[in-house]
Amino acid sequence: MVVSNRTETAVRCLRKRSRQIQTRTGAGITDGILHANMEEKRRDETKMDKMTYGTIEGVNKPVSRIFFGTAGTPFKNGGDASELLDGILALGINAIDTARVYGQSEKSIGDWIEKRGNRDRLVLLTKCCHPTPHWEKRVSEKEMRKDFARSSELLHTGYFDIYLLHRDDPEVPVGELVEAFNALHAEGKIGAFGGSNWTHERIDAANEYAYRRGLIPFTVSSPNYGLAEVRGDIWGGGSVSLSGPAQAEARTWYAETGMPVVAWSSLAAGFFSGRMKSTDAGRVGEFLDPYAQKGFAAADNFERLRRCEILAEKKGVQVPQVALSWLFHQKLNTYAVISTHSPARMEENIAALHLPLTEEECAWLNLM
Ligand SMILES: NC(=O)c1ccc[n+]([C@@H]2O[C@H](COP(=O)([O-])OP(=O)(O)OC[C@H]3O[C@@H](n4cnc5c(N)ncnc54)[C@H](OP(=O)(O)O)[C@@H]3O)[C@@H](O)[C@H]2O)c1
Repeated sequence: MVVSNRTETAVRCLRKRSRQIQTRTGAGITDGILHANMEEKRRDETKMDKMTYGTIEGVNKPVSRIFFGTAGTPFKNGGDASELLDGILALGINAIDTARVYGQSEKSIGDWIEKRGNRDRLVLLTKCCHPTPHWEKRVSEKEMRKDFARSSELLHTGYFDIYLLHRDDPEVPVGELVEAFNALHAEGKIGAFGGSNWTHERIDAANEYAYRRGLIPFTVSSPNYGLAEVRGDIWGGGSVSLSGPAQAEARTWYAETGMPVVAWSSLAAGFFSGRMKSTDAGRVGEFLDPYAQKGFAAADNFERLRRCEILAEKKGVQVPQVALSWLFHQKLNTYAVISTHSPARMEENIAALHLPLTEEECAWLNLM
């Protein structure tokens, strides 16, 4: 496996800066809170103190280590998500993950941004160039710009902190895409950019192209990553995961480069919600949607869940907290994308950032 020296050096710098920011947990983002009631404000600040932040090159503010995932309800149906989003923001989560293809998600978020006037506080990540419903590929500068225009309209902003290609098309020369991203960046339309569901080899090739020409490289990637191992191409169109033994080489590349990983479905789409028990393998349909069943309901993952249950009981915490703590203990520069309908549950997820696990516990959870 070849790691480009320049990728390594550049992203190592990021890592150092990221650590510096994390030690200033929550600093600088409390000033926008509009609560009149001082007691409520004090309580919220205490909650926000628990959030931790990293840096992503190209994003001009600290980025919460948890991104709020908005692919499901109420977002995809265009419902009013204001209360939920207010609750999530009050926890110190400033990063939101959406995409052009998440139904009405961008509209829901955009309506809230417009109502609250809080665009400057947010790290907005959206994605472009998802394949058509018939899985025809759409990876090109033309489609990037077309999606950008529509996303901007719905999100009420002409600027995305992070802009990602939602899938790759290896038939498209990587240089074309690097040039297209650089053009959008030069026009002041995007900050950081990269791929979601891109292999590390293609990202490395993109960054070699960028370095040879003095262009800005990809500084963020969004694959699946979590304690559960995904079975196959869960969403279609070439979804990429870093989990499981087969992805060891990819994880080594990420560990060596420090490339930020915005890990989608980090609770395995609810597999680790704690609602489904490890003894429920025969009735997964009662707990998981068809995608989660197809992607995660396998014997090895049920064993991982059983081990989470044991550690959760021993430590007096919840199953999802153990699964998330495992993720945050890995060597990668990880941000977890998590969806929930409940700020209270998100608060538990944030607490997982501070839940200690030994190396032995981490290895045992992952069946090693
Ligand atoms: N880039 C891509 O290709 C891609 C693909 C898939 C997903 N994504 C992104 O990743 C986001 C998250 O993925 P996801 O929704 O599939 O899965 P997820 O975040 O791994 O899991 C969500 C599930 O976990 C439950 N949950 C969350 N916190 C909990 C807690 N503390 N206790 C108990 N249950 C808890 C939620 O239930 P409740 O809602 O009831 O709390 C929900 O059922 C998406 O919204 C999207 O933004 C990106």
